[in-house]
Amino acid sequence: MKRLSLSLVLFMLFPFFAKAGEGMWIPMLLQYNEKEMQEMGMRITAEDIYSINHSSLKDAIVLFGGGCTGEIVSDYGLLLTNHHCGYDYIQRHSSVEHDYLTNGFWAMNRGEELPCPGLSVIFLREMRDVTDQVLADITIDMPEDERQAKVDEHIKAIIADVEKETNYKVSIKPYFLGNEYYLLLNEVYTDVRLVGCPPSNIGKFGGDTDNWVWPRHTGDFSIFRVYADKDGHPAVYSEDNVPYKPAKHLDISLKGAEEGDFAFVFGYPARTNEYLPSVAVDQEANLIDPITVDLRGKVLDIYNKYQEQDPKVRIQYASKHASIGNGWKKWMGVTEGINHFHGVEKKEAYEHEFFDWAMQSRSRYMYVNLMKDFKKNYEELEPYELAYTYMAEAGMRIEIVNFAGRFVKLSEVTKDTPQDEIDMMITNLKASAEKFYKDYYEPIDREVAAMLLSEYLKAQPADFRPAFLNDIKDVNDYVGKMFDKSMFTDQAKVNTLLDNFKVNNAKKLANDPALLVYQSLIGFYREKVYDHIKALTEDNARLQRIYMKGQMEMQPEKRFSPDANFTLRVTYGKVEGFRPKDGMKYNHFTTLEGIMQKENPDIYDYVVEPRLKQLYNTKDYGRYADKDGTMHVAFTASVHTTGGNSGSPILNADGQLLGLNFDRCWEGTMSDLIYDPDICRNISVDIRYVLFIIDKFAGAGHLINEMTIVE
Ligand code: ARG
Ligand code: ASP
Repeated sequence: MKRLSLSLVLFMLFPFFAKAGEGMWIPMLLQYNEKEMQEMGMRITAEDIYSINHSSLKDAIVLFGGGCTGEIVSDYGLLLTNHHCGYDYIQRHSSVEHDYLTNGFWAMNRGEELPCPGLSVIFLREMRDVTDQVLADITIDMPEDERQAKVDEHIKAIIADVEKETNYKVSIKPYFLGNEYYLLLNEVYTDVRLVGCPPSNIGKFGGDTDNWVWPRHTGDFSIFRVYADKDGHPAVYSEDNVPYKPAKHLDISLKGAEEGDFAFVFGYPARTNEYLPSVAVDQEANLIDPITVDLRGKVLDIYNKYQEQDPKVRIQYASKHASIGNGWKKWMGVTEGINHFHGVEKKEAYEHEFFDWAMQSRSRYMYVNLMKDFKKNYEELEPYELAYTYMAEAGMRIEIVNFAGRFVKLSEVTKDTPQDEIDMMITNLKASAEKFYKDYYEPIDREVAAMLLSEYLKAQPADFRPAFLNDIKDVNDYVGKMFDKSMFTDQAKVNTLLDNFKVNNAKKLANDPALLVYQSLIGFYREKVYDHIKALTEDNARLQRIYMKGQMEMQPEKRFSPDANFTLRVTYGKVEGFRPKDGMKYNHFTTLEGIMQKENPDIYDYVVEPRLKQLYNTKDYGRYADKDGTMHVAFTASVHTTGGNSGSPILNADGQLLGLNFDRCWEGTMSDLIYDPDICRNISVDIRYVLFIIDKFAGAGHLINEMTIVE
């Protein structure tokens, strides 16, 4: 890594802090941000956003399905989230006769809404600071296991105590890497029904091609409704349940937003790591991510080749392509962003500051060696992280190997295994097999396997390889034999085995070449990798906690924001475009015009719905048009978001809904590690486009009538 000039270092003092846009704030502490938010243009108060004394915006926000955010937009429990968040539930209700994914779905009355078993939404009712109780009697130099035991014991006692006074679900989570603890009182509703979704041509317009990319034109929304018992309490699905009446629902603005307008996002960001030391960022951005990107890129190339040849294969591999491609594209952006920003060097400069500060007083002795210890740990971790990466991204990516892993238990049964246990395994495996083979295409898997195993062999030294790799003389020959001999390439063979399974088949199953490869990968990981990763990761967590404490001591005036941990947060910034490169400026919004420009009937991701085209041609936008006369589709803002923020409301200065967050621009995906307000942008679908689709496209105006629209 290059060293930086002194002037650059001086310019960067405390470079990671106090930038507008950065930070995922705890709602109950928002009064500390209120002044800044109001200076940026906000016209409401922190109490309007989070209060336990009266209704506030928080009463309209939910954790949706355990992984996304949703918001309530009517007094009848109507909920908005992203199309990609509701996708699984839409898919489960879809069949050849009712293909809601392709055609969309609109319940024209409440009787037509579709129950979604397994889907829940969670409301945060209250949070409390319990740091002092959780950390009582804990000292900084206490051995780690002793500390953890005490923390666990305190948490258990506090929860037991609070549970006596409430019916809410009680949990306690660490913030600031274990320097603070907050108690959360949650209410979980499990009767949630699908109300509507646009066709995928709208809800997923641009597909994987446009994923993480600006300009964007995705109508990424779906509609659900939360139901409760007659008293408004959570209840399992019943025809007698009634729409849930929230303490507060979001008002919707039809005014749109101008560049520079204040905006905030209220939702459930999953995970960020803003306080990692430079060595960790370097390892992630410059070693692990590039390897993962390279391997996945090669896999995707093979997928693409076959997908282009055959429409059936395109559909079979669409979902695999999407999930491999999501990380692939994101991590490419992370590496590029970190290096472009000189993120590692800037962190190093900051760490020198920190060291100098620690050296100034004896009482700061516990901070002096932190960076040395981090460095040692990450150096030690490196070969194991690499081993893990290759095992997961090269070994386990071979589909028959991964699938064979599910048969390990069955391959180990003996005559002492109870028959009902075996029957249960067989039932489950039959279901998995059906799903697996529906989307399996052997020529892809063969080619992927040969490519991945040669990469694996090239990259990993002999003592960091699973045993089977060291026996390979010629990769193509090996893969050829594995695929010819394994039963897992052949659905009929697997079905025959499952239909007529006898205990004495177990041995043959255990010797299947794909299953042997699986066992070799897992065995290697268990014996040679896992313990090291676990011990070093735990020690790094301890160092991170102390480092965080030190940073807060070094800058007592600064407002720190805790890393995301899947709890409710407020993040704020401005509606704005950005300059991705010298000589380029991205506009902050897109319009329906852009959908027509992207239209290509031959490319799946860019097929435009005829009805949408018709509305475009007649410019029938009604009150949903912007004052410039066009139909705005999506917009960017400098608001700090991450995975889990999908579906989150983005709100204006008055706390009214402007849109639904659904993605970020890939130039700024490093924001999970370092937030730079110059290039980190979140992407939202404009609420006016959502309403236009509901009203004009789908003719579901009855849903709009439930909402509170501010014109
Ligand atoms: N990149 C977005 C988020 O993580 C959206 C992913 C879904 N959309 C897609 N086209 N794959 O995770
Ligand atoms: N697309 C992400 C999500 O699904 C959001 C993001 O990572 O910006 O939560």
